[in-house]
Amino acid sequence: MMKGDERRVGGVKGRDGRRDGRDGMSAKAGHHQRWTRKHLLGLQELSADEIRFVLDTADSFKEVSTRSVKKVPALRGRVMVNLFFEDSTRTRTSFALAAQRLSADIIDFSQKTSSVNKGETLIDTARNIEAMGIDIIVVRHPAGGAAELLSRHVKCSVVNAGDGAHEHPTQGLLDLYTMRERFGKIEGLKVAIVGDIVNSRVARSNLWGLKKLGAEVILVGPPTLLPRAFEQLGARVVYDFDEVVGEVDVLNMLRVQFERIGTSQFPSVREFTRLFGLTGDRFKRCKKDVFVMHPGPMNRGIEISSEIADGAQSGILKQVTNGLAVRMAGLYLVSQASD
Ligand code: CP
Repeated sequence: MMKGDERRVGGVKGRDGRRDGRDGMSAKAGHHQRWTRKHLLGLQELSADEIRFVLDTADSFKEVSTRSVKKVPALRGRVMVNLFFEDSTRTRTSFALAAQRLSADIIDFSQKTSSVNKGETLIDTARNIEAMGIDIIVVRHPAGGAAELLSRHVKCSVVNAGDGAHEHPTQGLLDLYTMRERFGKIEGLKVAIVGDIVNSRVARSNLWGLKKLGAEVILVGPPTLLPRAFEQLGARVVYDFDEVVGEVDVLNMLRVQFERIGTSQFPSVREFTRLFGLTGDRFKRCKKDVFVMHPGPMNRGIEISSEIADGAQSGILKQVTNGLAVRMAGLYLVSQASD
């Protein structure tokens, strides 16, 4: 296991002992680089080296979950709060378990029973909780930019667990980790992200991460859910799923976010499934070893058929398993940078 701040990016030499202003890595003369970011807010701001560093750190932590005693003392004495203003199953549980495995203490904030309902602001809520001696705030919020805003108003570390349609960095990282585990590398992979792109923070974090690590990204969906402006971020934008379904290595199927759009963005749910769903017929036209992903929660039978979601080529539960190691890595690294 790792010790203190001695985790280093394998093979990447630092420059002259100075902080590298382009990203959150620093280096001393003759030493390898190490993590220096106090917050984990999004993949847009991370360099390719930083992303690889998180994935490599997660590799070390994955082993912890295979032990009979699934715990390391890395964050003993630290306190993490889950500050969730939106519902969550995977992310909230995964962060809580990740913190427990690192021996941190955990507080679970619930908006439904909090003073937010009496008009307290996000910043006041966070600062009051921080005043009790919190080291890491993990925040999910419906507004894009909420995590970054908090990071400017608190002294502790902030980890973004999803902010509006902006970013979901740990989901992006666990998706990258799962693809790298499956294919051995990300560079050169052809990845299609399919469905409700415009409302998806997962799509944006995946796009940033995949591009930085050298994958080709194809975004697929109806024009109402996929503005052509995504081309400016380096993606190929395609409105006909069947045009690309046979050429990709990975299909990342997104949830249609009905709570945000209803069905007003396409004629009917049946029409969406016919044109953009991963149906049995469409799956037959995929590459033989295509890898199927979905961040969850799934609308079974809408964006993905149940048989495929539960089938041999599905990585959906592997994503969830890997999320734990990735979140352990994220919590550990931001906490090291705060020292
Ligand atoms: N993938 C994801 O963020 O799931 P939850 O909303 O359940 O956390």
